[in-house]
Amino acid sequence: MSRVSVTVTVAVSFLALFISLVTVSCDVIKLPSQASKFFRTTKHNDDGDSSAGTKWAVLVAGSSGYWNYRHQADVCHAYQLLRKGGLKEENIIVFMYDDIAKNKENPRPGIIINSPNGNDVYNGVPKDYTGDDVNVDNLFAVILANKTALKGGSGKVVDSGPDDHIFIYYSDHGGPGVLGMPTSPHLYANDLIDILKKKHASGTYKSLVFYLEACESGSIFEGLLPEGLNIYATTASNAEESSWGTYCPGDDSSPPKEYETCLGDLYSVSWMEDSDQHNLQTESLHQQYELVKKRTAGSNTSYGSHVMEFGDIGLSKEMLVLYMGTNPDNENYTFVDKNSLRPPSRVTNQRDADLVHFWDKYQKAPEGSARKAEAQKQVLEAMSHRLHIDNSFLMIGKLLFGISEGPLVLNKVRPSGKPLVDDWDCLKTLVRAYERHCGSLSQYGIKHMRSIANICNAGIQVEQMEEAAMQACPTIPAGPWSSLHRGFSA
Ligand SMILES: *[C@@H]1O[C@H](CO)[C@@H](O)[C@H](O)[C@H]1NC(C)=O
Ligand SMILES: *[C@@H]1O[C@H](CO)[C@@H](O)[C@H](O)[C@H]1NC(C)=O
Ligand SMILES: *[C@@H]1O[C@H](CO)[C@@H](O)[C@H](O)[C@H]1NC(C)=O
Repeated sequence: MSRVSVTVTVAVSFLALFISLVTVSCDVIKLPSQASKFFRTTKHNDDGDSSAGTKWAVLVAGSSGYWNYRHQADVCHAYQLLRKGGLKEENIIVFMYDDIAKNKENPRPGIIINSPNGNDVYNGVPKDYTGDDVNVDNLFAVILANKTALKGGSGKVVDSGPDDHIFIYYSDHGGPGVLGMPTSPHLYANDLIDILKKKHASGTYKSLVFYLEACESGSIFEGLLPEGLNIYATTASNAEESSWGTYCPGDDSSPPKEYETCLGDLYSVSWMEDSDQHNLQTESLHQQYELVKKRTAGSNTSYGSHVMEFGDIGLSKEMLVLYMGTNPDNENYTFVDKNSLRPPSRVTNQRDADLVHFWDKYQKAPEGSARKAEAQKQVLEAMSHRLHIDNSFLMIGKLLFGISEGPLVLNKVRPSGKPLVDDWDCLKTLVRAYERHCGSLSQYGIKHMRSIANICNAGIQVEQMEEAAMQACPTIPAGPWSSLHRGFSA
């Protein structure tokens, strides 16, 4: 056996072990609707829909690539849900890279599904901001309704007035203090909060609800989103844990076998499958929060995440209809407290969903095929990128703080209620310093944002960071994940 194939065999069998560690078997998920069918009631009230204002929505899938199928599937599903709820197309603004439906890996060309037996959710979704128009500047311009700041796209913006309700839903990878974008730079928490404050100051909404799916998504609002902006936010996870993909290959409720990718994210499908079924005039934001929290927690403590709420919690007594409308077909499916969403015991860490895709592709490809070789290359590239990123941070920590202190300083978590970092400009400057010497953080590397934040919090100057990164990374690795062709992520 050549040296290369030995390495490959070792890496691949290590991965098999690894994958068997990240997924466990799963119960069939029971929706609350399945219970509510037995508790049907004809009573309903219309109190929730007292608003005179317009309902607006901004839907954002922050990733690209077939291994990230689920984020765009989530967003397309959300669009269909809101349309069925009665929102108008002109009031829903969609950001998605749009590289999934026609992707050569997609077994059903032109179709996107968000659950194993789900219908197409792609048909009819407007292509407002696609490809490289999915970027931070356009998102901010859309939220602030600043048409002159837009570049490309359909030109749709949240042109809202003081009585209006706004719903923002974002699904993607994230890291402490940061949300991914398919383009550079990423979206930083402080900038997002500034935009929300500006929107509030412009007096152009009555209340705003933000649903956020990403790893460490709690860190986007923790210690940052003040009360009094009339904003209620919930996040898939707290500030220091992963969020979870679902309907992944190998799960019990796995996708049809021709799909080598996860179809959804756990928090996201939890709120959408709940909203799909109910009369949303009778279900409050708080009731949905509780249901989603239960399902997203998982039934096994090693899996699942803690759904969090931030901002003006009092808004959560409002009915969902104010933000999502309600599907007239569901008028008799009122909210029943007995409904319990069964948490799955088998889900996939968002950060491993790319490996699950490459691995599934590798396993299913015929022996000796070009496809198998390609999948093997993808597995190895993804894994070597991870090793490079993890090792370089370990090294930088030791160089800056000493062999034993280094890891402690980098991994320190601030008490809850405190933001990740005091100086966000420092954070961004140090991200660029790292990437100049070590290559792109990419979607995996943003898990180390807390380390960079702690380096700032410890008062390290950019020159010291440059020096440490230079020593830790003599060269930028050649693999595609490290490439800086898209520019710095900050
Ligand atoms: C809109 O964006 C333009 C270009 O970025 C900027 O100059 C202008 O100040 C913005 N307008 C408002 C009202 O924020
Ligand atoms: C949780 O998952 C781990 C790993 O698969 C397993 O060993 C453990 O028994 C599970 N615990 C429960 C309570 O199901
Ligand atoms: C809801 O129930 C009422 C009374 O039984 C019935 O008239 C109505 O058609 C039902 N609505 C739907 C959408 O099924």
